[in-house]
Amino acid sequence: MLAISIVIVCGVADDMPPPAIDTILYTAEEIQARVRAMARAIDADHQTDDPLHVVGVLKGSFVFAADLIRAMRTPLTLDFIVIASYLDGATSSGEIQLLKDLDSAIEGRPVLIVEDIVDTGRTLHYLHAVLRARAPSSLKTACLLSKPTRRAVDAPVDYVGFEIDDRFVVGYGLDHAERFRHLPHIAVIEPPAPPPR
Ligand code: IMP
Repeated sequence: MLAISIVIVCGVADDMPPPAIDTILYTAEEIQARVRAMARAIDADHQTDDPLHVVGVLKGSFVFAADLIRAMRTPLTLDFIVIASYLDGATSSGEIQLLKDLDSAIEGRPVLIVEDIVDTGRTLHYLHAVLRARAPSSLKTACLLSKPTRRAVDAPVDYVGFEIDDRFVVGYGLDHAERFRHLPHIAVIEPPAPPPR
């Protein structure tokens, strides 16, 4: 793993001091290589002609989902769901709200949830319960990042990009107060203190 220490201070209009990006955890090249490997694993596991219904969890997964599906060869259909996970400081409070549901029914269809990061696991736990109740033929999850030491509830993940320590990360779709989603790499913000949202 390549760890480059840099400090980028980005201008913000708010009165809060801008957070500093301290360390690049994964470069764009490392991410792309891992995403391609995940796509190959998903392709290998999905050997039917029945299109895989890929469900991206917005907003955080949008970059990952875009790269993952373009690396996949499995026939697929795409949908998005919008979830609000309310934070209590840096931790999910457990209060989760479905802001936008799927566009189509999933009964009898193979479904792959694509999530940016699994932290306490509460969001994924909730999503699994909601989607499983709709009786898909299978329900699997791919997440780019996982913080296993932070898990508070059971959240089954079938494909994991990178397991990371308890650090707050941004970039490649992940944000801090809606910033940094556009970064092509994944970086650590120090101190890990995202504001409530
Ligand atoms: P949960 O605690 O697994 O429910 O995660 C809730 C949500 O918090 C995730 O889907 C992310 O949107 C966000 N989150 C958790 N950890 C991070 C992080 O390190 N960076 C950016 N967002 C995070």
